Amino acid sequence: MPPRELFREDRGPATVDVSAYPKSMQDTYSERFLKRCGKCHTVARPINTKKVVLEGEWTSYTKKMMRKPGSGIRESDRKKIVEFLVYDGRVRKPEVYLAKLDEALKTERDPRRKQALTEERKEIELRVRVKELEALARAEKSAAKKAEYQSEADRLRAQADGMMEARK
Ligand code: HEC
Repeated sequence: MPPRELFREDRGPATVDVSAYPKSMQDTYSERFLKRCGKCHTVARPINTKKVVLEGEWTSYTKKMMRKPGSGIRESDRKKIVEFLVYDGRVRKPEVYLAKLDEALKTERDPRRKQALTEERKEIELRVRVKELEALARAEKSAAKKAEYQSEADRLRAQADGMMEARK
């Protein structure tokens, strides 16, 4: 009998195409994330979750995973993995990320935190647009139009990456 399936997410893809990610993210993916987070369940679980998305959520969730007996996760791995998961979520699931941010904005009372979330929101809106443009580029038959969509997507992605860097 196959093991009992606990999470619907386990059935989704168990890899991420990181070829367009910054080099440091690619390294974290292959050297830390796949090894550490694929030990007890497949990495499909963290890759496909819609529940754990924002930075604070990944911070508390990875701490919970790290504390599990025999996890083998060091604090230095955990921090890098959180950076990767947050970046990956923004790029691959920007619409989920945006919905989560809006939820958080509704209840945030601290004006500084609210300001930070509002800044982050601008970046995520760009990433939603990048994803749309890339889908248009894929579906487009005309090579000239395809290239146009793709170059606009690349331009906005660079802008979003710049906003992310500036907030660090
Ligand atoms: C020592 C075993 C172990 C390791 C290592 C481990 N996990 Fe888990 N993970 C579990 C178990 C067990 C569950 C089921 C829920 C629970 O017990 O908290 C789980 C559940 C999850 C879920 C499902 C959350 C939900 O409710 O949708 C996510 C996401 C997740 N893990 C991410 C990770 C990430 C990211 C890492 C690497 C930092 C990781 N796990 C490493 C054991 C592990």
